[in-house]
Amino acid sequence: MAALKYAGMDDTDSEDELPPGWEERSTKDGWIYYANHDEMKTQWEHPKTGKKRRCAGDLPYGWEQEIDEKGQIIYVDHINKRTTYFDPRQAFTVEDVTVKPKRYDGNTTALEILQGHNLSDKVIIVTGANAGIGFETARSFALHGAHVILASRNLSRVSKAVSLIQQEWHKARVEAMVCDLASLRSVREFAESFKAKKLPLHILVCNAAVCTIPWCLTEDSLESTFQICHLGHFLLVQCLEDVLRRSAPSRVVVVSSESHRFTDLLDLYGKVDLALLSPPKREYWSMLAYNRAKLCNILFSNELHRRLSPYGVTSNAVHPGNMMYTSIHRNWWLMSFLFMLVRPFTKSMELKILSQHPACICGGINSRSDARLGSDQIH
Ligand SMILES: NC(=O)c1ccc[n+]([C@@H]2O[C@H](COP(=O)([O-])OP(=O)(O)OC[C@H]3O[C@@H](n4cnc5c(N)ncnc54)[C@H](OP(=O)(O)O)[C@@H]3O)[C@@H](O)[C@H]2O)c1
Repeated sequence: MAALKYAGMDDTDSEDELPPGWEERSTKDGWIYYANHDEMKTQWEHPKTGKKRRCAGDLPYGWEQEIDEKGQIIYVDHINKRTTYFDPRQAFTVEDVTVKPKRYDGNTTALEILQGHNLSDKVIIVTGANAGIGFETARSFALHGAHVILASRNLSRVSKAVSLIQQEWHKARVEAMVCDLASLRSVREFAESFKAKKLPLHILVCNAAVCTIPWCLTEDSLESTFQICHLGHFLLVQCLEDVLRRSAPSRVVVVSSESHRFTDLLDLYGKVDLALLSPPKREYWSMLAYNRAKLCNILFSNELHRRLSPYGVTSNAVHPGNMMYTSIHRNWWLMSFLFMLVRPFTKSMELKILSQHPACICGGINSRSDARLGSDQIH
């Protein structure tokens, strides 16, 4: 079959081979029909098998359907820079029977998960989007048509990230904006600048984080890990809450970590101690500060969901995976060493980006069944 040859696959199913004079075509919405050039007629059923077929999914990654000047449908492969009248989806047709829902596992890539999702009417903000999981998340959303704002503390780094995505797909709608989560002033300025664009906001991914950094105070006199990982995002959501509500259905996705399980926010007497969140230098242990901030992420997400879901704004906390080789480990040699050791056994960024997580596209988890601090106690 021509379609299979085009896709680089051998034609093994001779039953599907068309008799001479017949041609397989597809409609704009993916239904297959058969044209008989001798008799000048078309039909939905395969002339040999009598089966009706349709394309199994969306156009492959990088392809777009367009109309040429004669009004005919053409298919543009932006990656290999070629144009064809042949619908590449015809290589993957299925019979017209109920299709079982796809099953995903740890080896499924984000682009596979997003396959079939048209995000062209979505506006998405990703914090910490110049690197790591944030970058891959922003990239996947953008390659599926979303208008993505890449928020970062560093304009030159994030501008490079934007160019990388645009090099991959020149039509990607990506913008760089500065948002330093270590500064409450910067977070407010970012929110104001975003609002000035008069855009809706459908997904806010609170992704940025630091881990195992030495103790230091922010310009707001708070411990940095706590402010960057949690408080900055908390303020960002408050500042953008009205836009999220107006854009409903919309969602907040808070990137937490499994490591939240190794801590609590309780003092020696079992009472909540908020002073633990921004400790003085003598009481600071960087890993513990990270774990506590990640616990706050989950408590915040749960409470946000409780308060805003009646207005169509959902919130989900996600754990992206364990010890994935990004730059999160860069601040402490021991962490870098451990990350290096486990690198062959952990998944690649393409496998773990957040847009692969159901929470980002179609629902999600509100985890933390064993939280030792009830979410209603913190906010
Ligand atoms: N990697 C893992 O194994 C793992 C496991 C569990 C959870 N997570 C979570 O996944 C998320 C992404 O982490 P990652 O692994 O992709 O780490 P990463 O590669 O270090 O990326 C972190 C991002 O956050 C940004 N950031 C740091 N401080 C900031 C600030 N003050 N203001 C704004 N942005 C700031 C960084 O920007 P700069 O480049 O300017 O520093 C970077 O873009 C984090 O929430 C992390 O806790 C990761």
